[in-house]
Amino acid sequence: MSFETAIVLLNVVVGVVILSFILFRVVNLRRNPEVRPPMNVAPGMPDETLEGRKLERVLGWALLFTIILAVALPVYFLFEPNREATASQTFLQQSIHRGATLFANTQSKSYDATTSLLCANCHGVHGEGGSTPYTLQPEADICQIKKNQSNPNLPECLPQQVIWQAPALNTALLRYSSDELAQIITYGRPGTPMPSWGVASGKGVLGDQSIQDIVNFIQSIQISPKQAQQESNQAVVQFKQQAVEFVTSTQGSLTTAEQTLAQDQAKNASAATISADQTSISQLQAELSSAQANNTQVQGLSEGALLFRVNCARCHTKNWSFEDPTKLGQPGPAPQGSGAFGPPLTDGSTLLQFPGNTGRTEQIQWVTVGVPANMPYGTRGISSGRMPHFGNLLSAQQIAAIVDYERSL
Ligand code: HEC
Ligand code: HEC
Repeated sequence: MSFETAIVLLNVVVGVVILSFILFRVVNLRRNPEVRPPMNVAPGMPDETLEGRKLERVLGWALLFTIILAVALPVYFLFEPNREATASQTFLQQSIHRGATLFANTQSKSYDATTSLLCANCHGVHGEGGSTPYTLQPEADICQIKKNQSNPNLPECLPQQVIWQAPALNTALLRYSSDELAQIITYGRPGTPMPSWGVASGKGVLGDQSIQDIVNFIQSIQISPKQAQQESNQAVVQFKQQAVEFVTSTQGSLTTAEQTLAQDQAKNASAATISADQTSISQLQAELSSAQANNTQVQGLSEGALLFRVNCARCHTKNWSFEDPTKLGQPGPAPQGSGAFGPPLTDGSTLLQFPGNTGRTEQIQWVTVGVPANMPYGTRGISSGRMPHFGNLLSAQQIAAIVDYERSL
Protein backbone atom coordinates (compact mmCIF):
# COMPACT_ATOMS: atom_id res chain seq x y z
CA MET A 1 0.00 0.00 0.00
CA SER A 2 1.42 3.40 -0.98
CA PHE A 3 1.81 6.32 1.42
CA GLU A 4 -0.98 8.24 -0.36
CA THR A 5 -3.45 5.34 -0.05
CA ALA A 6 -2.60 4.96 3.64
CA ILE A 7 -3.33 8.66 4.28
CA VAL A 8 -6.63 8.47 2.41
CA LEU A 9 -7.63 5.34 4.36
CA LEU A 10 -6.68 7.00 7.65
CA ASN A 11 -8.93 9.96 6.78
CA VAL A 12 -11.80 7.68 5.92
CA VAL A 13 -11.41 5.80 9.22
CA VAL A 14 -11.29 9.04 11.26
CA GLY A 15 -14.37 10.35 9.36
CA VAL A 16 -16.28 7.14 10.06
CA VAL A 17 -15.33 7.25 13.75
CA ILE A 18 -16.50 10.89 14.13
CA LEU A 19 -19.79 10.18 12.34
CA SER A 20 -20.48 7.09 14.44
CA PHE A 21 -19.75 9.05 17.62
CA ILE A 22 -22.23 11.78 16.66
CA LEU A 23 -24.81 9.17 15.71
CA PHE A 24 -24.24 7.34 18.98
CA ARG A 25 -24.68 10.57 20.99
CA VAL A 26 -27.91 11.52 19.18
CA VAL A 27 -29.46 8.06 19.54
CA ASN A 28 -28.29 7.81 23.13
CA LEU A 29 -29.74 11.22 24.12
CA ARG A 30 -33.07 10.40 22.50
CA ARG A 31 -33.32 7.09 24.36
CA ASN A 32 -32.24 8.46 27.76
CA PRO A 33 -33.18 12.16 27.77
CA GLU A 34 -31.17 13.93 30.46
CA VAL A 35 -33.21 15.75 33.04
CA ARG A 36 -30.78 18.66 33.18
CA PRO A 37 -32.03 22.07 31.87
CA PRO A 38 -30.77 22.96 28.36
CA MET A 39 -27.12 24.14 28.23
CA ASN A 40 -27.97 27.80 27.38
CA VAL A 41 -30.13 28.36 30.46
CA ALA A 42 -28.16 26.20 32.91
CA PRO A 43 -26.01 28.16 35.38
CA GLY A 44 -22.34 28.43 34.23
CA MET A 45 -19.45 26.85 36.05
CA PRO A 46 -18.00 28.69 38.98
CA ASP A 47 -14.68 30.55 38.55
CA GLU A 48 -12.76 28.05 40.70
CA THR A 49 -13.62 25.24 38.34
CA LEU A 50 -12.97 27.29 35.19
CA GLU A 51 -9.63 28.68 36.29
CA GLY A 52 -8.34 25.51 37.79
CA ARG A 53 -7.36 22.29 36.02
CA LYS A 54 -9.88 22.89 33.25
CA LEU A 55 -8.05 26.01 32.06
CA GLU A 56 -4.72 24.22 32.23
CA ARG A 57 -6.09 21.36 30.18
CA VAL A 58 -7.45 23.70 27.49
CA LEU A 59 -4.17 25.62 27.37
CA GLY A 60 -2.29 22.31 27.26
CA TRP A 61 -4.27 21.23 24.19
CA ALA A 62 -3.71 24.63 22.57
CA LEU A 63 0.02 24.30 23.12
CA LEU A 64 0.04 20.79 21.66
CA PHE A 65 -1.78 21.88 18.49
CA THR A 66 0.47 24.94 18.10
CA ILE A 67 3.50 22.67 18.27
CA ILE A 68 1.96 20.31 15.69
CA LEU A 69 1.28 23.27 13.36
CA ALA A 70 4.72 24.77 13.93
CA VAL A 71 6.38 21.50 12.98
CA ALA A 72 3.99 20.34 10.25
CA LEU A 73 4.03 23.50 8.13
CA PRO A 74 7.83 23.78 7.67
CA VAL A 75 8.03 20.01 7.10
CA TYR A 76 5.33 20.29 4.41
CA PHE A 77 7.20 23.12 2.66
CA LEU A 78 10.44 21.21 2.99
CA PHE A 79 8.95 18.30 1.06
CA GLU A 80 7.02 20.44 -1.44
CA PRO A 81 9.75 20.76 -4.15
CA ASN A 82 10.30 17.03 -4.02
CA ARG A 83 6.56 16.39 -4.28
CA GLU A 84 6.39 18.71 -7.28
CA ALA A 85 9.30 16.96 -9.00
CA THR A 86 7.76 13.55 -8.36
CA ALA A 87 4.45 14.78 -9.75
CA SER A 88 5.96 16.08 -13.01
CA GLN A 89 8.02 12.90 -13.29
CA THR A 90 4.82 10.89 -12.89
CA PHE A 91 3.05 13.04 -15.51
CA LEU A 92 5.96 12.50 -17.91
CA GLN A 93 5.91 8.74 -17.32
CA GLN A 94 2.18 8.64 -17.98
CA SER A 95 2.63 10.71 -21.12
CA ILE A 96 5.40 8.40 -22.39
CA HIS A 97 3.16 5.46 -21.65
CA ARG A 98 0.28 6.94 -23.69
CA GLY A 99 2.74 7.80 -26.47
CA ALA A 100 4.05 4.23 -26.50
CA THR A 101 0.50 2.95 -26.93
CA LEU A 102 -0.17 5.35 -29.81
CA PHE A 103 3.10 4.32 -31.49
CA ALA A 104 2.64 0.57 -30.99
CA ASN A 105 1.75 -2.17 -33.43
CA THR A 106 0.65 -5.73 -32.66
CA GLN A 107 4.24 -6.78 -31.93
CA SER A 108 4.72 -4.08 -29.28
CA LYS A 109 4.15 -4.61 -25.56
CA SER A 110 2.03 -1.44 -25.32
CA TYR A 111 -0.31 -2.40 -28.19
CA ASP A 112 -3.95 -1.54 -27.69
CA ALA A 113 -6.39 -2.49 -30.44
CA THR A 114 -8.53 0.64 -30.05
CA THR A 115 -5.90 3.39 -29.67
CA SER A 116 -2.65 2.24 -31.31
CA LEU A 117 -1.87 4.06 -34.56
CA LEU A 118 0.68 1.51 -35.83
CA CYS A 119 3.59 3.92 -36.37
CA ALA A 120 5.73 0.87 -35.53
CA ASN A 121 4.54 -0.92 -38.69
CA CYS A 122 6.57 1.50 -40.78
CA HIS A 123 9.16 2.87 -38.33
CA GLY A 124 10.03 -0.38 -36.54
CA VAL A 125 8.85 -1.67 -33.15
CA HIS A 126 11.70 0.17 -31.38
CA GLY A 127 11.78 3.10 -33.82
CA GLU A 128 14.85 1.63 -35.49
CA GLY A 129 13.51 2.41 -38.97
CA GLY A 130 11.75 0.24 -41.51
CA SER A 131 9.91 0.40 -44.78
CA THR A 132 6.44 0.28 -46.24
CA PRO A 133 4.87 -0.55 -49.61
CA TYR A 134 3.62 2.50 -51.51
CA THR A 135 1.94 3.07 -54.85
CA LEU A 136 3.43 5.83 -56.97
CA GLN A 137 1.09 7.52 -59.41
CA PRO A 138 2.57 8.17 -62.85
CA GLU A 139 3.62 11.78 -63.37
CA ALA A 140 4.03 12.22 -67.14
CA ASP A 141 1.49 14.47 -68.88
CA ILE A 142 0.27 11.74 -71.25
CA CYS A 143 -0.61 9.64 -68.20
CA GLN A 144 -3.07 12.26 -66.99
CA ILE A 145 -5.40 11.24 -69.86
CA LYS A 146 -7.83 8.62 -68.48
CA LYS A 147 -7.56 6.11 -71.33
CA ASN A 148 -3.78 5.99 -71.07
CA GLN A 149 -3.89 5.00 -67.44
CA SER A 150 -4.70 1.34 -67.94
CA ASN A 151 -3.09 1.00 -71.36
CA PRO A 152 -0.70 -1.98 -71.25
CA ASN A 153 1.24 -0.44 -74.15
CA LEU A 154 2.19 2.49 -71.93
CA PRO A 155 3.87 0.74 -68.97
CA GLU A 156 5.15 4.10 -67.72
CA CYS A 157 1.52 5.09 -67.03
CA LEU A 158 0.80 2.18 -64.73
CA PRO A 159 0.92 2.89 -61.00
CA GLN A 160 4.25 1.65 -59.67
CA GLN A 161 4.61 -0.40 -56.49
CA VAL A 162 7.68 0.58 -54.48
CA ILE A 163 9.08 -0.02 -51.02
CA TRP A 164 9.52 3.32 -49.27
CA GLN A 165 12.11 3.60 -46.53
CA ALA A 166 10.74 4.95 -43.23
CA PRO A 167 13.51 6.71 -41.27
CA ALA A 168 14.70 5.60 -37.85
CA LEU A 169 13.04 7.62 -35.09
CA ASN A 170 15.42 6.54 -32.32
CA THR A 171 17.74 9.31 -33.55
CA ALA A 172 14.98 11.82 -34.44
CA LEU A 173 15.67 14.10 -31.47
CA LEU A 174 19.39 14.06 -32.21
CA ARG A 175 18.45 15.63 -35.54
CA TYR A 176 15.31 17.69 -34.80
CA SER A 177 14.12 19.81 -31.88
CA SER A 178 11.02 18.51 -30.12
CA ASP A 179 8.93 21.33 -31.64
CA GLU A 180 10.09 20.36 -35.12
CA LEU A 181 9.23 16.73 -34.39
CA ALA A 182 5.73 17.70 -33.22
CA GLN A 183 5.34 19.70 -36.44
CA ILE A 184 6.33 16.71 -38.62
CA ILE A 185 3.94 14.36 -36.83
CA THR A 186 1.11 16.89 -37.04
CA TYR A 187 1.46 17.64 -40.76
CA GLY A 188 3.06 14.42 -42.07
CA ARG A 189 4.90 14.42 -45.40
CA PRO A 190 2.54 14.88 -48.32
CA GLY A 191 3.53 12.81 -51.33
CA THR A 192 5.10 10.12 -49.13
CA PRO A 193 3.56 7.28 -47.09
CA MET A 194 3.84 9.41 -43.93
CA PRO A 195 0.30 10.54 -43.05
CA SER A 196 -0.69 13.76 -41.23
CA TRP A 197 -1.74 12.88 -37.71
CA GLY A 198 -2.65 16.19 -36.08
CA VAL A 199 -6.11 17.80 -36.02
CA ALA A 200 -4.32 21.06 -36.95
CA SER A 201 -3.54 19.59 -40.40
CA GLY A 202 -7.23 19.10 -41.12
CA LYS A 203 -6.63 15.41 -41.82
CA GLY A 204 -5.48 13.84 -38.59
CA VAL A 205 -7.25 12.99 -35.36
CA LEU A 206 -4.62 13.73 -32.71
CA GLY A 207 -4.81 16.76 -30.44
CA ASP A 208 -1.72 18.60 -29.19
CA GLN A 209 -1.53 16.51 -26.02
CA SER A 210 -1.40 13.22 -27.94
CA ILE A 211 1.24 14.59 -30.33
CA GLN A 212 3.27 15.65 -27.29
CA ASP A 213 2.78 12.16 -25.80
CA ILE A 214 4.31 10.66 -28.96
CA VAL A 215 7.19 13.16 -28.89
CA ASN A 216 7.84 12.24 -25.24
CA PHE A 217 7.78 8.56 -26.15
CA ILE A 218 10.21 9.14 -29.03
CA GLN A 219 12.44 11.08 -26.62
CA SER A 220 12.42 8.06 -24.29
CA ILE A 221 13.74 5.69 -26.99
CA GLN A 222 16.63 7.88 -28.24
CA ILE A 223 19.99 6.16 -28.51
CA SER A 224 23.17 7.97 -27.44
CA PRO A 225 24.97 10.23 -29.95
CA LYS A 226 27.92 7.86 -29.79
CA GLN A 227 25.78 4.88 -30.75
CA ALA A 228 24.08 6.97 -33.46
CA GLN A 229 27.50 7.83 -34.93
CA GLN A 230 28.47 4.17 -34.97
CA GLU A 231 25.20 3.28 -36.69
CA SER A 232 25.64 5.98 -39.28
CA ASN A 233 29.17 4.71 -40.06
CA GLN A 234 27.73 1.21 -40.22
CA ALA A 235 25.12 2.43 -42.72
CA VAL A 236 27.88 3.54 -45.09
CA VAL A 237 29.55 0.13 -44.87
CA GLN A 238 26.20 -1.55 -45.50
CA PHE A 239 25.50 0.67 -48.48
CA LYS A 240 28.74 -0.51 -50.08
CA GLN A 241 28.05 -4.13 -49.12
CA GLN A 242 24.61 -4.03 -50.71
CA ALA A 243 26.14 -3.09 -54.02
CA VAL A 244 28.48 -6.09 -53.78
CA GLU A 245 25.70 -8.41 -52.67
CA PHE A 246 23.56 -7.40 -55.60
CA VAL A 247 26.33 -8.43 -57.98
CA THR A 248 26.77 -11.76 -56.15
CA SER A 249 23.06 -12.55 -56.06
CA THR A 250 22.53 -11.64 -59.72
CA GLN A 251 25.57 -13.74 -60.56
CA GLY A 252 23.94 -16.61 -58.61
CA SER A 253 20.62 -16.29 -60.46
CA LEU A 254 22.48 -16.17 -63.76
CA THR A 255 24.39 -19.38 -62.98
CA THR A 256 21.14 -21.12 -62.00
CA ALA A 257 19.46 -19.92 -65.19
CA GLU A 258 22.39 -21.25 -67.25
CA GLN A 259 22.17 -24.61 -65.50
CA THR A 260 18.42 -24.76 -66.17
CA LEU A 261 19.10 -24.10 -69.84
CA ALA A 262 21.73 -26.85 -69.95
CA GLN A 263 19.32 -29.31 -68.27
CA ASP A 264 16.45 -28.37 -70.56
CA GLN A 265 18.72 -28.83 -73.59
CA ALA A 266 19.84 -32.23 -72.27
CA LYS A 267 16.17 -33.20 -71.78
CA ASN A 268 15.40 -32.08 -75.34
CA ALA A 269 12.81 -29.65 -73.97
CA SER A 270 10.47 -27.80 -76.32
CA ALA A 271 11.76 -24.87 -78.34
CA ALA A 272 9.47 -22.55 -76.35
CA THR A 273 11.08 -23.59 -73.02
CA ILE A 274 14.58 -23.17 -74.42
CA SER A 275 13.79 -19.74 -75.77
CA ALA A 276 12.23 -18.69 -72.42
CA ASP A 277 15.41 -19.88 -70.68
CA GLN A 278 17.51 -17.87 -73.12
CA THR A 279 15.41 -14.74 -72.60
CA SER A 280 15.80 -14.90 -68.84
CA ILE A 281 19.55 -15.47 -69.26
CA SER A 282 19.94 -12.42 -71.41
CA GLN A 283 17.85 -10.36 -68.95
CA LEU A 284 20.03 -11.52 -66.10
CA GLN A 285 23.18 -10.77 -68.09
CA ALA A 286 21.95 -7.22 -68.59
CA GLU A 287 21.12 -6.92 -64.88
CA LEU A 288 24.52 -8.31 -63.97
CA SER A 289 26.38 -5.83 -66.09
CA SER A 290 24.41 -2.90 -64.68
CA ALA A 291 24.91 -4.28 -61.14
CA GLN A 292 28.63 -4.49 -61.82
CA ALA A 293 28.70 -0.97 -63.22
CA ASN A 294 26.77 0.26 -60.17
CA ASN A 295 29.14 -1.59 -57.83
CA THR A 296 32.22 -0.13 -59.49
CA GLN A 297 30.68 3.31 -59.17
CA VAL A 298 29.67 2.84 -55.51
CA GLN A 299 33.07 1.47 -54.49
CA GLY A 300 34.74 4.44 -56.18
CA LEU A 301 32.62 7.12 -54.48
CA SER A 302 34.34 9.74 -52.37
CA GLU A 303 33.56 9.85 -48.66
CA GLY A 304 31.37 12.95 -49.11
CA ALA A 305 29.41 11.32 -51.94
CA LEU A 306 28.79 8.16 -49.90
CA LEU A 307 27.73 10.07 -46.80
CA PHE A 308 25.42 12.21 -48.93
CA ARG A 309 23.67 9.12 -50.33
CA VAL A 310 23.24 7.58 -46.90
CA ASN A 311 22.16 10.71 -44.97
CA CYS A 312 20.87 13.40 -47.30
CA ALA A 313 19.71 11.86 -50.58
CA ARG A 314 16.36 10.72 -49.22
CA CYS A 315 15.29 14.37 -49.11
CA HIS A 316 17.56 16.00 -51.67
CA THR A 317 17.48 13.43 -54.50
CA LYS A 318 14.23 12.65 -56.22
CA ASN A 319 13.08 9.02 -55.93
CA TRP A 320 15.90 8.08 -53.58
CA SER A 321 13.64 7.33 -50.58
CA PHE A 322 12.09 4.38 -52.29
CA GLU A 323 15.01 3.05 -54.21
CA ASP A 324 14.49 -0.66 -54.04
CA PRO A 325 17.61 -2.27 -52.56
CA THR A 326 17.00 -5.34 -54.71
CA LYS A 327 17.29 -3.09 -57.75
CA LEU A 328 20.53 -1.44 -56.74
CA GLY A 329 22.01 -2.41 -60.05
CA GLN A 330 19.29 -0.70 -62.06
CA PRO A 331 19.87 2.76 -63.43
CA GLY A 332 19.64 5.01 -60.40
CA PRO A 333 17.02 7.66 -59.70
CA ALA A 334 17.37 11.28 -60.75
CA PRO A 335 20.85 12.85 -60.51
CA GLN A 336 22.15 13.25 -56.95
CA GLY A 337 20.96 16.46 -55.34
CA SER A 338 18.16 16.87 -57.90
CA GLY A 339 15.83 18.04 -55.11
CA ALA A 340 12.75 16.38 -53.63
CA PHE A 341 11.46 17.33 -50.18
CA GLY A 342 14.56 19.47 -49.76
CA PRO A 343 15.60 21.98 -52.47
CA PRO A 344 17.84 20.97 -55.39
CA LEU A 345 21.54 21.34 -54.67
CA THR A 346 22.78 20.91 -58.23
CA ASP A 347 24.36 23.29 -60.75
CA GLY A 348 26.37 25.02 -58.07
CA SER A 349 23.23 26.24 -56.31
CA THR A 350 24.84 25.86 -52.89
CA LEU A 351 27.70 28.04 -54.14
CA LEU A 352 25.13 30.77 -54.75
CA GLN A 353 23.40 30.24 -51.41
CA PHE A 354 26.70 30.03 -49.50
CA PRO A 355 29.28 31.97 -51.59
CA GLY A 356 33.03 31.80 -51.08
CA ASN A 357 35.01 30.51 -48.16
CA THR A 358 32.83 32.29 -45.60
CA GLY A 359 29.89 30.63 -47.29
CA ARG A 360 31.48 27.22 -47.03
CA THR A 361 31.91 27.73 -43.27
CA GLU A 362 28.29 28.83 -43.02
CA GLN A 363 27.13 25.83 -45.03
CA ILE A 364 29.00 23.52 -42.64
CA GLN A 365 27.30 25.32 -39.77
CA TRP A 366 23.92 24.93 -41.47
CA VAL A 367 24.34 21.17 -41.90
CA THR A 368 25.75 20.78 -38.37
CA VAL A 369 23.25 22.79 -36.28
CA GLY A 370 21.15 24.84 -38.70
CA VAL A 371 19.06 27.78 -37.58
CA PRO A 372 15.62 27.77 -35.91
CA ALA A 373 12.49 27.95 -38.07
CA ASN A 374 11.82 31.33 -39.72
CA MET A 375 15.42 32.51 -39.28
CA PRO A 376 17.55 33.41 -42.31
CA TYR A 377 20.48 31.33 -43.57
CA GLY A 378 22.87 31.74 -46.48
CA THR A 379 22.19 34.52 -48.98
CA ARG A 380 18.46 34.10 -49.47
CA GLY A 381 17.44 31.13 -47.36
CA ILE A 382 14.77 31.08 -44.68
CA SER A 383 14.67 28.01 -42.51
CA SER A 384 11.35 26.22 -42.30
CA GLY A 385 12.55 24.00 -39.45
CA ARG A 386 12.11 20.90 -41.62
CA MET A 387 15.72 20.09 -42.34
CA PRO A 388 17.30 17.76 -39.77
CA HIS A 389 20.78 18.65 -38.49
CA PHE A 390 23.69 16.32 -38.22
CA GLY A 391 26.10 17.54 -35.55
CA ASN A 392 25.13 14.62 -33.33
CA LEU A 393 25.38 11.97 -36.03
CA LEU A 394 28.38 12.91 -38.14
CA SER A 395 31.85 14.10 -37.23
CA ALA A 396 33.05 17.58 -38.23
CA GLN A 397 35.33 15.98 -40.80
CA GLN A 398 32.45 13.95 -42.31
CA ILE A 399 30.25 17.05 -42.56
CA ALA A 400 33.04 18.99 -44.26
CA ALA A 401 33.36 16.10 -46.75
CA ILE A 402 29.61 16.19 -47.53
CA VAL A 403 29.62 19.96 -47.90
CA ASP A 404 32.51 19.84 -50.37
CA TYR A 405 30.65 17.15 -52.30
CA GLU A 406 27.50 19.30 -52.37
CA ARG A 407 29.50 22.26 -53.58
CA SER A 408 30.73 20.14 -56.49
CA LEU A 409 27.24 19.10 -57.66
C1 HEC B 1 2.49 3.92 -43.65
C2 HEC B 1 3.77 4.06 -43.04
C3 HEC B 1 3.96 5.09 -41.94
C4 HEC B 1 3.25 5.23 -40.78
C5 HEC B 1 2.05 4.43 -40.29
C6 HEC B 1 3.90 6.30 -40.05
N1 HEC B 1 4.95 6.80 -40.76
FE1 HEC B 1 6.19 8.28 -40.17
N2 HEC B 1 7.13 8.21 -41.98
C7 HEC B 1 6.91 7.25 -42.95
C8 HEC B 1 7.78 7.50 -44.07
C9 HEC B 1 7.86 6.69 -45.34
C10 HEC B 1 8.56 8.63 -43.73
C11 HEC B 1 9.63 9.30 -44.59
C12 HEC B 1 9.01 10.21 -45.57
C13 HEC B 1 10.04 10.82 -46.47
O1 HEC B 1 10.62 10.09 -47.26
O2 HEC B 1 10.23 12.04 -46.37
C14 HEC B 1 8.13 9.04 -42.41
C15 HEC B 1 8.68 10.11 -41.70
C16 HEC B 1 8.43 10.35 -40.36
C17 HEC B 1 9.14 11.32 -39.56
C18 HEC B 1 10.28 12.21 -40.04
C19 HEC B 1 11.57 11.48 -39.75
C20 HEC B 1 12.79 12.07 -40.40
O3 HEC B 1 13.87 11.72 -39.96
O4 HEC B 1 12.68 12.83 -41.37
C21 HEC B 1 8.62 11.25 -38.30
C22 HEC B 1 9.05 12.04 -37.08
C23 HEC B 1 7.57 10.24 -38.31
N3 HEC B 1 7.49 9.72 -39.58
C24 HEC B 1 6.80 9.89 -37.22
C25 HEC B 1 5.72 9.02 -37.29
C26 HEC B 1 4.80 8.79 -36.19
C27 HEC B 1 4.92 9.39 -34.82
C28 HEC B 1 3.86 7.92 -36.65
C29 HEC B 1 2.63 7.40 -35.93
C30 HEC B 1 1.75 8.36 -35.32
C31 HEC B 1 4.20 7.60 -38.02
N4 HEC B 1 5.33 8.29 -38.37
C32 HEC B 1 3.49 6.72 -38.81
C33 HEC B 1 5.97 6.24 -42.91
C34 HEC B 1 5.02 6.08 -41.92
C1 HEC C 1 14.22 15.25 -43.88
C2 HEC C 1 14.68 15.81 -45.10
C3 HEC C 1 16.08 16.36 -45.23
C4 HEC C 1 17.27 15.69 -45.03
C5 HEC C 1 17.47 14.23 -44.59
C6 HEC C 1 18.33 16.60 -45.36
N1 HEC C 1 17.80 17.81 -45.75
FE1 HEC C 1 18.87 19.44 -46.36
N2 HEC C 1 17.12 20.49 -46.55
C7 HEC C 1 15.86 20.00 -46.30
C8 HEC C 1 14.90 21.08 -46.44
C9 HEC C 1 13.39 20.96 -46.25
C10 HEC C 1 15.64 22.23 -46.78
C11 HEC C 1 15.10 23.65 -47.05
C12 HEC C 1 15.38 24.54 -45.89
C13 HEC C 1 14.31 24.52 -44.84
O1 HEC C 1 13.15 24.14 -45.17
O2 HEC C 1 14.61 24.86 -43.69
C14 HEC C 1 17.02 21.83 -46.85
C15 HEC C 1 18.07 22.68 -47.18
C16 HEC C 1 19.39 22.30 -47.32
C17 HEC C 1 20.47 23.15 -47.78
C18 HEC C 1 20.31 24.59 -48.22
C19 HEC C 1 19.95 24.62 -49.67
C20 HEC C 1 19.61 25.97 -50.18
O3 HEC C 1 20.03 26.27 -51.30
O4 HEC C 1 18.91 26.73 -49.49
C21 HEC C 1 21.61 22.41 -47.77
C22 HEC C 1 22.99 22.85 -48.18
C23 HEC C 1 21.26 21.10 -47.27
N3 HEC C 1 19.91 21.07 -47.02
C24 HEC C 1 22.15 20.09 -47.06
C25 HEC C 1 21.84 18.84 -46.52
C26 HEC C 1 22.80 17.82 -46.18
C27 HEC C 1 24.28 17.95 -46.36
C28 HEC C 1 22.11 16.77 -45.67
C29 HEC C 1 22.66 15.45 -45.16
C30 HEC C 1 23.76 15.49 -44.26
C31 HEC C 1 20.70 17.12 -45.70
N4 HEC C 1 20.56 18.38 -46.21
C32 HEC C 1 19.68 16.29 -45.29
C33 HEC C 1 15.52 18.71 -45.98
C34 HEC C 1 16.42 17.70 -45.67
